[in-house]
Amino acid sequence: MFTFKDYYNNEVKLSFQNQPFSNDPRHVWVICKYQDKWLLTKHKERGLEFPGGKVEEGETAEQAAEREVMEETGGLITQLHYIGQYYVYGKREHVAKNVYFAVVDSLLPRKTYYETEGPKLLDALPNNIRQSKAFSFIMKDDVLYHCIEYINITL
Ligand code: GTP
Repeated sequence: MFTFKDYYNNEVKLSFQNQPFSNDPRHVWVICKYQDKWLLTKHKERGLEFPGGKVEEGETAEQAAEREVMEETGGLITQLHYIGQYYVYGKREHVAKNVYFAVVDSLLPRKTYYETEGPKLLDALPNNIRQSKAFSFIMKDDVLYHCIEYINITL
């Protein structure tokens, strides 16, 4: 278990156990690979981030992960691996979020990418993400660092 502060100074706990904070997480985040590139999306307000969002009524977290990747990037997932879960002690509310690693094998063009500008492919994740205005706050805490390390070691 890792404990750290996020970009807004909220406490965050991250664990690679099976859903340690909530059996019914309402949020998902999906670290995606397409061919040999990272597949992100560009949120219109927050900037570049891996796709994700809220689990809808009647949906499992895995179904939400597949839907959010399709809605925000047009990406069709062929492999979805649960990685871990994090819990943000936000000022207004607490958020439990499952993190997945997904392999995407096709990018389907879409009429709308909802609140994003659609798929953005990166050869590598830059070292200056935390300082870069181009990246979303959700990319700027230790969740990303630990999850990439976990993916590199285990997958
Ligand atoms: P909408 O209903 O989509 O407008 O959501 P919201 O802006 O109220 O945010 P949401 O319910 O997604 O999250 C509430 C708060 O939790 C946010 O303002 C953030 O402070 C925090 N939060 C949500 N997701 C993350 C995340 O991935 N990382 C971090 N560090 N904080 C998050």
